[in-house]
Amino acid sequence: MKIAAIKETFPNERRVALVPSAVAPLKKAGLEVLVESGAGASAGFADEAYREAGATVVSRDEAFGADCLLQVRSCGASGDAWHGDRDRLRPGTILIGCCDPLSLHEQCREAAEKGATLFSLELVPRITRAQSMDVLSSQANIAGYRAVLLAATALPKILPMMTTAAGTVTPAKALILGAGVAGLQAIATAKRLGSQVTAYDVRPAVKEQVQSLGAKFLELPLETGSSEATGGYAKAMGEEFYAKQRELLGKAVADSDIVVSTAMIPGQRAPVLVTREMVSRMRPGSVIVDLAAEKGGNCEVTVPGDAVTIDGVTVLGPTNLPAEVPFHTSQLYARNITTFLLHLVKLGLPQLSLDDEICRDTLVARGGQIVHPKIREKAGLPPLEAASPN
Ligand code: NAI
Repeated sequence: MKIAAIKETFPNERRVALVPSAVAPLKKAGLEVLVESGAGASAGFADEAYREAGATVVSRDEAFGADCLLQVRSCGASGDAWHGDRDRLRPGTILIGCCDPLSLHEQCREAAEKGATLFSLELVPRITRAQSMDVLSSQANIAGYRAVLLAATALPKILPMMTTAAGTVTPAKALILGAGVAGLQAIATAKRLGSQVTAYDVRPAVKEQVQSLGAKFLELPLETGSSEATGGYAKAMGEEFYAKQRELLGKAVADSDIVVSTAMIPGQRAPVLVTREMVSRMRPGSVIVDLAAEKGGNCEVTVPGDAVTIDGVTVLGPTNLPAEVPFHTSQLYARNITTFLLHLVKLGLPQLSLDDEICRDTLVARGGQIVHPKIREKAGLPPLEAASPN
């Protein structure tokens, strides 16, 4: 089987799905590895490094001749280039990458109609044996780190306490909203830089993890008993809950120099935790980094992909922080995607084993149609049994 890493096309996407060190394990498994020329350049991996690792460097057209295409952003998530790429697809081509299928289901349907077999890495189940394939975790971890660096750079203060001959500087106060993968790394990074860190999450189970990083857990008098869904994700709560939550968070937000917000609900708009009024109650110079910007934002005034200043408070809405540190995020992503691919190969790829939870949960489309029940539902398609003639 020929597999190919395709050059990313989404604006400012600097990551690449395969790094040179990932080529050897694939070749060892009997796969022929192609890499589109220039695919790794913006992440720091030259064509020559792939050649030395045993890959063949090819044109985009040649790469699309492979049996299996590896990308960071695949299908509709690759941006405008999808239109051209879609027309290059051949029946049976296997696409593996992040395709944001719960939002971009229309493009998933287009891939299905082209006869492609589409796997979405965002859907890798959060189970122990799939941890090394979990791209959401590997990338969110770096995003959490980067978010704190952005905040530290924008803040007109330093983060650590300093006792100097010219006086003592008190530490900056950081508040992390949402203590999942990105939030926990943001806590650790803000601590390492010397700030006083408080964190909050709707899932009570997180308290211990926050405290183990040396941060204070903010407890709010809210009924959160049903806030955790399967896989450890947060459940969407009602608007009444969010209104109460904002009211209770107001004081902690106003008292912080830095707020990093990461609260998300899979497949839905991010909850609004910080209103414009709460922003104006912060001290001038304070910084909010809204990691949920791409999903609508946790802060009411966030502009995705941009920075705004409200009453002296800077609100940053970065939409792709992992792409800003492409060397390491590509390295981690490549490990995730090769582990996933080798798992499928072991199961008999191009044959698919739907008895396997990882294969079943990540398979979006095959045989001309969307097969994933959740994505069919989002796309307004009837369940498969009802859709098939018999
Ligand atoms: P995420 O990116 O979906 O959300 C980030 C955080 O926001 C979550 O901790 C969530 O509880 C929180 N949140 C949602 N609504 C909120 C609100 N209104 N107020 C405050 N916080 C809110 O989550 P992520 O980082 O992907 O992690 C989800 C879960 O998956 C966690 O329980 C994590 O421990 C678990 N996990 C399990 C893995 C495994 O077993 N292999 C690997 C990675 C994560």
